[in-house]
Amino acid sequence: MIVSKPQVLVTRRIPSATLATLEQACDVEVYDQGDLPHNELIARVPGRQGLLSVVTDTIDRAVFDAGRDLKVVATIAVGYNNIDLTSARERGVVVTNTPDVLTEAAADLTWSLILAMTRRIVEGDRLVRRGGWRGFALDFMLGTDLRGKQLGVVGFGRIGKAVAERAQAFGMRVAYSSRSQQSSSLGESMSLDRLLSTSHVVSLHCPLTPETTHLINQRTLARMRRGAYLVNASRGPVVDEAALVWALEGGLIAGAALDVYEREPAIHQGLLSLENVVLSPHLGSSTIETRTTMIQLAAQNIVAVLSGQPALTPI
Ligand code: DGY
Repeated sequence: MIVSKPQVLVTRRIPSATLATLEQACDVEVYDQGDLPHNELIARVPGRQGLLSVVTDTIDRAVFDAGRDLKVVATIAVGYNNIDLTSARERGVVVTNTPDVLTEAAADLTWSLILAMTRRIVEGDRLVRRGGWRGFALDFMLGTDLRGKQLGVVGFGRIGKAVAERAQAFGMRVAYSSRSQQSSSLGESMSLDRLLSTSHVVSLHCPLTPETTHLINQRTLARMRRGAYLVNASRGPVVDEAALVWALEGGLIAGAALDVYEREPAIHQGLLSLENVVLSPHLGSSTIETRTTMIQLAAQNIVAVLSGQPALTPI
């Protein structure tokens, strides 16, 4: 008797070694032409038991309606705001993410943004490249020290904590605000309002939910201390970009560094023309080691669930 393998749709090209592992247990179709359009996803999901997806795939009710045979959706990301968990639960579909394995990479990226922003590295690079550097001067392109200042971490999960841990090496004290009101030896827990008004650098690490959408808006930006900096490596819509441009142009804050955007890959025009803004293209987890591990973990989740085992990292 020939037992057919479960059918899996993979929405992006993945490394051949992981694909081979997946193919031992499943029949796999890989969409390898970049972003899988939503209507294509809906057209390809019927008859699949597994879906290996990425942050840009919108896995909404329409996808679950079309994917009646789905048993598992494994996203190659820690954030899962793009997946309708209610629909998944109603249909008994297991949803998994890739926590832990990207924590250090995301924290490192956050610190590279903090340093690039406060020491004007990208602005300086632009100046050098356009031939604008006239040589050393005592008052040239001064940045700001971090030592002795306060880092405000908004959202104190794995990544927020890893960012806070690194603050010690730079002589910064840490304040944090989180839903869970947990206590931590890494810093002082405080309300968002107090954190914003006392921190020299504010770094966002909360998940995107209805409550955190536009958490940073005109009102909260106006609460930030004058001369402070904002970093966002969480999800773009946590920051109202129009409000951020308003705050930067008005000199309310000294600068910003963003790795994520409201409408990726589109960037608010106002941000593009500001020298005191560092813009990186959603690189939080993008190291060779981390991405390889994330993809492997997501594939292992698919194989586990489709072979009747518990998922390694269910949401
Ligand atoms: C995540 O893991 O949520 C990143 O944003 C995508 O790599």
